[in-house]
Amino acid sequence: MGLPITIKKLKEKKQNGEKFTMLTAYDATLAMLCEKAGVDMILVGDSLGMVIQGHDTTVPVSVDDMVYHAKAVARGAPNTVKMVDMPFMSFAYPSQAIDNAARLMQEGHAEIIKIESTVHQTQLITELSRNGVPVCAHLGLTPQTIHKLGSYGKRGKDAAEAQQILSDAKELEQSGADMLLLECVPDQLAKAVTEAVDVPVIGIGAGRAVDAQVLVIYDILGMSGYIPSFAKNFLAETDSIENAIRKYVADVKNGVFPV
Ligand code: KIV
Repeated sequence: MGLPITIKKLKEKKQNGEKFTMLTAYDATLAMLCEKAGVDMILVGDSLGMVIQGHDTTVPVSVDDMVYHAKAVARGAPNTVKMVDMPFMSFAYPSQAIDNAARLMQEGHAEIIKIESTVHQTQLITELSRNGVPVCAHLGLTPQTIHKLGSYGKRGKDAAEAQQILSDAKELEQSGADMLLLECVPDQLAKAVTEAVDVPVIGIGAGRAVDAQVLVIYDILGMSGYIPSFAKNFLAETDSIENAIRKYVADVKNGVFPV
């Protein structure tokens, strides 16, 4: 018996011009509600370090933390494609990266792993891909490098950085990435990347031209303390968490969100 939705089917959605949705989840109950409400993919993001564990950044998150939360999500949403983050410093060396990716897939039931990437990860992505590990390369704002970046502001605003992100995206696709995720980049850059690659591009704070959207679930439920400008409290317009998720899914698919 196969999965009802697979990475292959999500890739076909891009070819057919059909938008798809992803939300973060870190526990079985919210994962179950995401699955019931028709979310196409769940991201077990290392944002759990901030929204679950209360850290200021995602830097302290460990592979053990990711496996723990991924297992819970897999129990709640057995039929949804699950992407799991490789946390800070878990992919610094190729052999370490392969061991950690194996843990996320074998223990955490990830179907695809996500790596905050630059062109320096191309060899690693090729190696993982050769070993049967689907990879999403995360570009633009990469929160694990916050202490180098100095802020969570938009990336790719100047022409040189935009060009670098676009060329990294193409190289990462060539190296075997199955999906790309663009965080906090100008809409025009996201559009250019989406048109330049065949693999699906998932956006957060990257406008509506991308193939799919992702948000942190606590943001759409108004639970995060503050709502980033690119997110929206969908619970405020509905009467239950499940209906808030359904509205997010419908609004993305109908092109109503993001505005
Ligand atoms: O960890 C996370 O939740 C993420 C999203 C913000 C894309 O990487």
